[in-house]
Amino acid sequence: MVVKKPKIVIIGAGMAGLTAANKLHTVTASKDMFELYVVEGGTRLGGRINTSEFCGDKIEMGATWIHGIGGSPIHKIAQQIHSLESDQPWECMDGNLDEPTTIAEGGFILNPSIVDPFTKLFNTLMDHAQGMKLSDSVSDTEKSLEKKQEELKGYGKWSKKLLEEGIFAMHENAQRTYTSAGDLLSLDYRAESEYQMFPGEEITIAKGYLSIIESLASVLPPGTVQLGRKVTKIEWQPERKNHEPMNVENGYCSRPVKLHFNDGSVMSADHVIITVSLGVLKAAIHDDSGMFYPPLPSFKADAISRLGFGVVNKIFMQLSPTHERKNEHSEGWFPSLQMVFHSPQSEMRHKKIPWWMRRTATLCPIYNNSSVLLSWFAGKEALALESLKDEEIIQGVSTTLSSFLSHKFSNGNVNAEDNSQGYGVKFSKVLKTKWGTDPLFLGSYSYVAVGSSGDDLDAMAEPLPKDKPLASPPLQILFAGEATHRTHYSTTHGAYFSGLREANRLLQHYHCLGIYN
Ligand SMILES: Cc1cc2nc3c(=O)[nH]c(=O)nc-3n(C[C@H](O)[C@H](O)[C@H](O)COP(=O)(O)OP(=O)(O)OC[C@H]3O[C@@H](n4cnc5c(N)ncnc54)[C@H](O)[C@@H]3O)c2cc1C
Ligand SMILES: *[C@@H]1O[C@H](CO)[C@@H](O)[C@H](O)[C@H]1NC(C)=O
Ligand SMILES: *[C@@H]1O[C@H](CO)[C@@H](O)[C@H](O)[C@H]1NC(C)=O
Ligand SMILES: *[C@@H]1O[C@H](CO)[C@@H](O)[C@H](O)[C@H]1NC(C)=O
Repeated sequence: MVVKKPKIVIIGAGMAGLTAANKLHTVTASKDMFELYVVEGGTRLGGRINTSEFCGDKIEMGATWIHGIGGSPIHKIAQQIHSLESDQPWECMDGNLDEPTTIAEGGFILNPSIVDPFTKLFNTLMDHAQGMKLSDSVSDTEKSLEKKQEELKGYGKWSKKLLEEGIFAMHENAQRTYTSAGDLLSLDYRAESEYQMFPGEEITIAKGYLSIIESLASVLPPGTVQLGRKVTKIEWQPERKNHEPMNVENGYCSRPVKLHFNDGSVMSADHVIITVSLGVLKAAIHDDSGMFYPPLPSFKADAISRLGFGVVNKIFMQLSPTHERKNEHSEGWFPSLQMVFHSPQSEMRHKKIPWWMRRTATLCPIYNNSSVLLSWFAGKEALALESLKDEEIIQGVSTTLSSFLSHKFSNGNVNAEDNSQGYGVKFSKVLKTKWGTDPLFLGSYSYVAVGSSGDDLDAMAEPLPKDKPLASPPLQILFAGEATHRTHYSTTHGAYFSGLREANRLLQHYHCLGIYN
């Protein structure tokens, strides 16, 4: 009897899948232990990491930040492969905006002394929602806001109350893009408090996020990663079939999992590591999808349906060259803008600003001098943007700016001589991401929705079949990916850790750990 090597197939060539492949390969390469494949439905590596170019600038369509460099494995790799420096400018090379200009609809520039107390209050309340004790600072803030009352003269129809609501809404909108929860009311704050941040600054990767992916993939033998192979059905064996004596078939050990692909081909495997997004899994557990056969057990399907998976999109826009640099001494072409909108129901709102613009918080150049501006969107508006024409987006953003930049800037950032058309801002090109409708993602990243909990994230990570290791071949389906990590979900490093976890699970199963590494 020919004894085959265990065959491991990883579904998805994103951060989780390639980390798992990298680990399995590097630990066992010298022993040639496994037959290893990564099958990817798309035509490129990286998944939700997609470094691209726009108007000659390097930009990130997906993952953008290393969320805290202290202890981040992504940061460690980036350092090792010298990806943190570049001669060319890159997106957010100066980090997070320190001093954005906050403007209220109608063109009223708000001094930090007006905005900061609200920001502080918002942050305190967010901390409180996540289980921290409220400090005296809230009442202190309330007091200092009282004093601000008089300073608000000269702000058109903005009253203190409206401004407070507007600034709060602006922070909420930023929070929606951080969490991907389209509506913050659907976010379970208590469970979110299990989320762990790495300490240290948040930075972007000079040579692009994709450089990390390429580095992980570079060790794999040619042919390991197969692009353009979309899995349409996964057959597995929760119980041993009675009529099959000990899994032996044609003199070979048969493999318990069978993958079907969109081109009609099939592949069998002993172990499959699934790394597809939570959005793809949600679609897969629909009664009629037939992706899993037999269907996933209820503990798994319930976790998949309870957890949240939202849409976050980025829009890049190029300022047209006719937008002249009015002030040579300014920091750049365009200030980093924080926008305070009237509520969508308000009679005071500028009627031509489209509804989807009203729920973005910022519009910023991707670096100091760049002519490329970036906004983040979440929820319904992020999804709606995916089907808008470029001209509609340009029109909507231009109209918004004509309201926000209609007054003269007084602080020297921008010198608006001609303010008739929002100091003549014109855009020549747009690039938007489409994570919500792309069938390989169906959203951007996961969050703990009301009704779910950290336990669901643990259930996501549980391999199948569960609790029956003797009755059927063990570890047939393993789950990795961002949405399987209890404390680092939604991030690239969460995906990385989850890939390592599942690789180690198999290495341990085959007693490979601690021997070869
Ligand atoms: C707009 C945006 C901004 C983000 N910003 C940040 C950030 O700043 N910092 C951060 O840490 N994280 C960020 N993230 C999240 C981060 O990108 C993800 O958490 C991480 O990349 C997920 O990796 P993964 O391997 O779990 O999943 P994926 O990258 O989704 O990999 C899964 C792979 O499976 C493939 N696939 C799907 N279905 C099939 C199928 N049927 N058959 C075969 N293959 C299939 C997909 O094509 C994909 O390549 C952002 C994400 C988005 C969308
Ligand atoms: C990835 O980037 C390319 C451009 O470089 C773009 O064509 C493609 O649509 C992007 N994919 C996703 C899923 O955003
Ligand atoms: C961009 O501007 C900020 C704020 O003025 C400054 O601190 C930073 O050094 C600038 N970056 C570059 C690359 O010049
Ligand atoms: C920004 O552009 C100005 C004018 O072209 C140039 O003098 C300056 O060095 C640039 N700054 C950065 C950080 O690129």
